[in-house]
Amino acid sequence: MTQRFPQQTDPAAGTQGRHPPTGWGGRALVCACLALGGLAPAWAAPAGALADKPAAELNVLHWWTSASERAAADHVAARMAEIGLRWVDGAVAGGGGGAAIKVLNERTLRRMAPKVAQLNGQSMSEWADMGLLLELDGVAQRRQWSRVLFPQVMAQLTVREHVVAAPLGIHRINNLYLNKSLFRQHRIELPSDWDGLERAAARLRAAGVSPVAFSDEPWQVATVFEALLLSEAGPALYRRMLVQRDPAAFGDPALERAFKRLRVWRSLAGPAPAVTAPASGAAVAAPGERPWTELVADFAAERSAMLIMGDWARGELGMLGLEGGRDFECKAVPGTAQVHLFSIDTLAMLAGGSPAQAEQEKMAELLGSAALQLGYNRIKGSVPVRRDVPVDELDPCAQQSFHLFANPATPRVPSLVHRMAFGEVGKNAIIETVHRFALDPSQTPAAAQRKLQGLLRALSPAAATAAPNPRKAAP
Ligand code: BGC
Repeated sequence: MTQRFPQQTDPAAGTQGRHPPTGWGGRALVCACLALGGLAPAWAAPAGALADKPAAELNVLHWWTSASERAAADHVAARMAEIGLRWVDGAVAGGGGGAAIKVLNERTLRRMAPKVAQLNGQSMSEWADMGLLLELDGVAQRRQWSRVLFPQVMAQLTVREHVVAAPLGIHRINNLYLNKSLFRQHRIELPSDWDGLERAAARLRAAGVSPVAFSDEPWQVATVFEALLLSEAGPALYRRMLVQRDPAAFGDPALERAFKRLRVWRSLAGPAPAVTAPASGAAVAAPGERPWTELVADFAAERSAMLIMGDWARGELGMLGLEGGRDFECKAVPGTAQVHLFSIDTLAMLAGGSPAQAEQEKMAELLGSAALQLGYNRIKGSVPVRRDVPVDELDPCAQQSFHLFANPATPRVPSLVHRMAFGEVGKNAIIETVHRFALDPSQTPAAAQRKLQGLLRALSPAAATAAPNPRKAAP
């Protein structure tokens, strides 16, 4: 894959022109590792221009550990180095960020909070409510974020009228990736509805190809499930369930259908591959709980033909040399083509501790800048958070996601699993309910629906006691 890096036009984005992603270039690497979490190199400021002034360190806690995620983070680190800031890496492995958030909690309780943390959506609001985040209103004003960012992004960054995080990229979740080469080899038309998908799956299986890449890891099961729910419920009912948290909406037959669909989709993956225990005796995940990167690798190597996944998978496919549109088709999950099921990545600046506000603000400014946005999102698989970034150089899948998100007529619905609708505790409880259903063949879809409805009553006590209000059903 060729990476192209645009000319920088935004002063906040540094002064140099073309940049390879870090890890590719010949700059000096410094290993400044955090005590907790995965260890990875951090960037030193380049010798020369800033040599007389040591770069100010900002430790960043995040969960970007796949090859593309790493390269995207390294890209940010390299741009920071140009303006005298050093990204000290605190990566905590684990897709979806469950482990990273636990480490962040632990570090904060021990007064070892990092300066910067990947905190998205409702989780971020919880931290802001506790007064733990630096307000970035000055940065937002200086860089005119309310004018240049999508309103939906601005809304995500704002808690009680204060901007409390810097935006990175917009991911789309309701993607269905089809491996074009496999479909071509077996002379199967690319399907676009559920019947077509099931017919294609039967033919692929008969030809000895695993039709679907699927993982039993709880957050991945639930990520597929929320896309299936959107497919069955449509955006208005999806919102009633997960935004308005109306327990009555969970009585709709669409929810039972979504559970049924999940069971079918999982069955198309076939039995989970066996794993060999590591010699070290370290704990291993259950056989079916494969990291998302393995699913992407299987898909890229033509070991499986279809994948439902957030578009960080597209970033990873790019690192493996595959190109959207050419090697794989990015369709929406059937029935959701006109809807954007989104998740927005943001980095929050933690308040308190040793003073670093000036550096944190400088980093926030950089993150929102047009040039950083294009370079970072091109690698990551997400799309820019700004409306003024030209996306015609991005692949067709990214362009599609960007234009759909930008269109005011598009229903944009928040991802549950990726913290856009619920905070950590609520979303974990829902994920667990969905995961249990997926793994327990004796549980019927109707029973799973009742469990979820009960859980929502518990999560929304006020809504549970209110009389059902039909007007709430309006989109
Ligand atoms: C994050 C992405 C990340 C993905 C897989 C999501 O929650 O928003 O940035 O790539 O998890 O770990």
